Order: sequence, then C-alpha cells, then structure tokens
Amino acid sequence: MSNGMTSSVVTTPLAGLDVPLLAVALTETKTLPQSLAALDQASGGGLGRAVASGDFKGKRDETTLVYPPGAKPQRVLLVGMGKPGEVTRGSVRRAAGVAAKRARALGAKQLAFAVAVEARNGTSPRELGQVVVEGAAQGAWSFTALKSAPDEPRPEVEAVAIVCDAGDAKEVAAGQRIGDAVAAGHRLARFLQVQPGNVCTPAYLADQAKALADKYGFALTVLDRAQIEREGMRTLLAVAQGSVQEPRFIVLEYRGAGDAPPLALVGKGVTFDSGGISIKPSQSMEDMKFDMSGAAAVLGTFEMLGRLKPAANVVGLVPATENLPSGTALKPGDVIKSHAGKTIEIINTDAEGRLILCDALSYVRRFKPAAVVDAATLTGAVVVALGHAAIGLMGTDDALAAEVRDAGERAGERCWPLPLWEEYRDLLRSDIADMKNSAGRGAGTIAGGWFLREFATGYPWVHLDIAGTAYTDSETPYQVKGPTAVGVRLFSEFILKRAGA
Ligand code: BES
Ligand code: MN
Ligand code: ZN
Repeated sequence: MSNGMTSSVVTTPLAGLDVPLLAVALTETKTLPQSLAALDQASGGGLGRAVASGDFKGKRDETTLVYPPGAKPQRVLLVGMGKPGEVTRGSVRRAAGVAAKRARALGAKQLAFAVAVEARNGTSPRELGQVVVEGAAQGAWSFTALKSAPDEPRPEVEAVAIVCDAGDAKEVAAGQRIGDAVAAGHRLARFLQVQPGNVCTPAYLADQAKALADKYGFALTVLDRAQIEREGMRTLLAVAQGSVQEPRFIVLEYRGAGDAPPLALVGKGVTFDSGGISIKPSQSMEDMKFDMSGAAAVLGTFEMLGRLKPAANVVGLVPATENLPSGTALKPGDVIKSHAGKTIEIINTDAEGRLILCDALSYVRRFKPAAVVDAATLTGAVVVALGHAAIGLMGTDDALAAEVRDAGERAGERCWPLPLWEEYRDLLRSDIADMKNSAGRGAGTIAGGWFLREFATGYPWVHLDIAGTAYTDSETPYQVKGPTAVGVRLFSEFILKRAGA
C-alpha cells in the first residue's frame, strides 16, 4: 500500500507559495474576494478577470485554472463551493477533493489549498484543517498497482499544504492531525475494498488485522474454521462451508480508556458474494468483491485509532468468509442453529450477510459493550429505498441512532432511518424454525435489519446498511469510480466525539 500523502500547515502569503498547484476555494460571487487581492495582482489580474467575466461563478464543483505570470505557484485553481450561506465543513471537504483530483490529473505532486476567509461561513479553523486533509485524500486516491503500465502515468499527489493565517495555524494543525489519521484509515479501507476476491480472502483480512495489531499494539484474536466451530458460530460456518477458503473470525481490541465498557464495531466481511446456491445473475457480480466493505470500514477505523490513540475503548469484530456454491454449500431449506441458539431456516443463501453478522452480534455480548454499531453491505433493497446518497440506519436505541446520524452528518456520510416496527417482524416467520433468513419482495432492508435485531440484545445497537454507498460506478468531481471507504469517517467522528477529542 502506498504511504499516501503528507500534509502540512503553512502561513506563507498565497502569491509566495512555490507549488505546482495552488487551489483556492470560494463561494458564488461576482467579484473576487478582498483576501485574494494580492494573489490576483501577482497573477496579472487573471483571477479577477475570471470572476468579473462570469467565466468562474463559484458554483459547487466548478473550477477554473489560471497560469499566473508573476506569482510563485505554477497554477492557480479556483474551486467553487456554491452559495455563501450554505457552506459547511462538507463543502470544504468536497472542494479539497475536487482540487486533489485535479492535482492528480495534472500530475502535480504538491497541492496547496486555501479557503478564502470570506467563504468560510463559520467553519472553524480546526474543522478546516481536518476536512481539507480528508477531502484531499479522497480526491487524490487511485489504484494502479495491478496494471503493468498505467494508462496515463501520473505521479501520486505527495503532499498537501493547508494555507491559513498565522493566527489560525495552531487550530488548523490540531484539525490536520485528526484529518491525517482519518485519511490513513480511509486509504487502508479503500485499498482493502479494491483488492480482487482472489487476493482479499478471509485469511488476507486476518493478516491485515495482524499487521495493524503489530503496528499499534492492539490485542488480536483470530479464529479459524475449527475454532469458529468450537465457539458454536454455526451460521458463519454454514455460509463458509461452500468454499475452500477458510473463514476467519477477527477481533481487534483497542484500549485507550482503562476499564470503561467498549464501543463495538462489527463489519460484514464477505470477501466475495456469489449468492451461493441461490446464485446471483452474472451482471455486475464482480462488484461483490466489495461485500467486505463493512470489514474494511472497521479495519480502517483501527488505523485511525492506532495513529490518534483517543481516550476510548473500541472492539472491532469481523466475521469473514466467501459465499460460494459447491457440493458442500449451504442449501435453501437447511436449518442452522445460530451461536445465540435460535434456529434459522435458510430460504435464500444469498441472504448470507445477516447469517454471519448474527453470530458476531451474539459473540460481542462478552465484551459488555456500551454500544454496538454494525456496517454491512446487506441489501440491494437499500439502493431502491435511498439510492447512493445515504446509508440506511436502523436500531434499538434512539439516542444512539441520533448520535450515529450526527456523526454521519459531520463525516459527510449521511444516514437515513428506516423503521423496525413490530409489524415487520412477521416477515421473518418460518414454518419450521425460529425464523427464516429472507422475506418476500417488500421492505427488504428492514427485513435484514429485523433479522439482526433478533440477535442484538443486551446493548444499544445501530445497524448501517452501506450497500448503496460502499462503492460507486460513477465518477464524481471529487472521487474516482470504485470504493468509497464509507464508514471510516463516520466511525471516527462517532468515537472521537465520545472520547472528547
Ligand atoms: N451483498 C448483498 C447485498 C448487495 C447488493 C450489496 C448490491 C451491494 C450491492 C447481499 O448479501 C445480498 O445478496 N442480499 C440479498 C438479500 C435477499 C436475498 C433477501 C439482496 O439484496 O438481494
Ligand atoms: Mn448475498
Ligand atoms: Zn452479501
């Protein structure tokens, strides 16, 4: 994995920055903000003309590239953030993403990024420091390791400098430190997500967890097939039984708050989901390598924890397996007794995520967690309900749900609630077992949530269905096609707020 970019805070006047690319974020305007006057002068008035002509209006994601004749930066990129009153930390993160993606395309190894002071709309220097690094990491990301010769060889963006006034530098640097750690987690998650299924197997995920544990001193438990069996996690085992790849049950423990009850994060780690005997259509089946995105979010969050060492206790649990058809595979009609003791009639072997998560949700009770949040690419139905703009959120505790939603808002990973009303429990009624693993066509995401709820007892719990947000098929101005690392920023915000960091 590449080491990613380094970041720094600089207080040099904009016109004096010796960089291949200086990006300046502004809001919608008809005149260049006063704070950019000196840079404009050194640019021969080019910035002012771009704005005065109306060529650059400052709309969201809009960019204009200027080659300043008399200033140190080789190029100046104006980046729009939209309406002045609507700017949030999310707008700044997004503008940094746009700038970094452009830097990458231009082959600029160093990016300097400034937000015109007139355009900040109350975003604090600390927030600014954090989200600029997060956005830059998101926008500059690319994955070429498996190409013998990249289509367009371009160097990586090695460094981002956040430019601010001297008075803000200390606070910006405090945010930058958090942003660096979150960005590293983001990078790890995307790296794991993008790996093909023949590389990223359950054993590979366990190796990655081991590397984190060695690097940062986390406690690590990895159960193999025999140990999973001894532990009685039979539904995880049932999903794994069709594959020659052995399953793993991975537990990472970070201790930063003494004996306080931990927060537990559970991530679905299906390293390839063919559907099993209830096999999926081949159209886009290759995307099912991303079915370990919840696991990637958990491991990415531990990368953040290792770097920041906040005052929190966190347990990460990853049930990892493939879901394949074979002569030994789980079959529709089979009945399996879960770790918690409840019996499950298998209707559809493609509803495998809930089968591996239910064992993790009962295993986690031994940690007496203060709260449990799971992230899983659980249902295609969440895409029908919410598209690709929101995570589906369900749970048993309104206060925790509000806290998680709030974290998602700050993280730019927004969640929207779906109800787990009693009426929906009937969807899972089985004729011969305690429950079945899949319902009819309606309310598919809620049925998945309800299934998990049956096992999430004894602690406050929230379930995040990230099937619509874990990867993207469309290129945006701030993110390339592929994995998004969704969950890393949300988990980070959630933990850091609880830790008072
Ligand atoms: N991994 C899939 C869900 C998924 C779909 C993730 C699309 C990302 C994009 C999950 O295991 C699955 O197959 N769910 C089934 C559940 C159904 C059989 C009840 C689905 O959504 O069709
Ligand atoms: Mn499936
Ligand atoms: Zn799946």
